[in-house]
Amino acid sequence: MSAPSTRRVIIDTDPGLDDAVAILFALNSGRFDVLGLTSVAGNIGIDITTKNAGRLLALLDRENIPVITGAAAPLARKGIEEAGIHGNDGLGGVVLPEPFARPHGYAPYWMAEQLHASHAHSVDILALGPLTNIALLLRDHADAARRIGRLIVMGGVVHGRGNVGPHSEFNFACDPEAVDVVLRSGLDVTLVPLDVTRKVRANVAFVQSLRTGTAGNAAADLISAYFQDGLESRPLHDPCVMLLALAPELFRVETRNVSVDLSDGPDAGALLAGTIPVKIAMEVDVAGALNLLAEGLAA
Ligand code: RIB
Ligand code: CA
Repeated sequence: MSAPSTRRVIIDTDPGLDDAVAILFALNSGRFDVLGLTSVAGNIGIDITTKNAGRLLALLDRENIPVITGAAAPLARKGIEEAGIHGNDGLGGVVLPEPFARPHGYAPYWMAEQLHASHAHSVDILALGPLTNIALLLRDHADAARRIGRLIVMGGVVHGRGNVGPHSEFNFACDPEAVDVVLRSGLDVTLVPLDVTRKVRANVAFVQSLRTGTAGNAAADLISAYFQDGLESRPLHDPCVMLLALAPELFRVETRNVSVDLSDGPDAGALLAGTIPVKIAMEVDVAGALNLLAEGLAA
């Protein structure tokens, strides 16, 4: 039987504990050809998200994968930080090695270079943080952006309550203007909203089951730092992006017509009923998702 195919991906990220678990899964699973990690300010400032991306690569000896620094602030607003959840180091105090090297250039430009150098639609972008870098790529390198394959985005909430405003989710609330640019881009976008990610959580037994090797041990430490109570973790938001990229059959995706709240009100960044058709994951096979996550983190 031929080896399962790998997808060429760029991971745009604001690590952050759940980002870190998602990145370890992507690197360790052998199912992704990770071209690079592009950092963005979000959970914590750009210097720390960039350094944490480098720490994850160093942990798994992936010196061949570059970290490229991205946007330090949203397109048109002041950012929001989540140090309360992810800690001042963005990793909940989990100690990881120093990055191999200083980060490269500037994410939107680097993304454009990669897309021009690759067959059209052969590179997916997995977006785990605010969409600022992607919006800048679309604005300043539109010809390259059209070459993106799938753009799978952790963000938004449809029916549930928000985690910033009453109906706004953190990645979208950080940079609503960037969300608007991405939703209107005509790209093959799939959103993975809180409606789905809130269902995917780890309990203590699951965390213990991960401890089979370097990636699994680190993921177990990171998830343990991400527990809300003694029973289960906060939602494994960002790993759901990788899981959908790898196994879309685990998710029910529907197309909804939306727009984004661009006001200065408490729900800035919220998804509204609108006129832009977007694919949104609305259901997930939780057991299947957790099994695949554990499989991809195993030694
Ligand atoms: O709302 C959850 C999202 O915001 C996740 O990507 C988390 O890492 C934070 O960035
Ligand atoms: Ca994130």
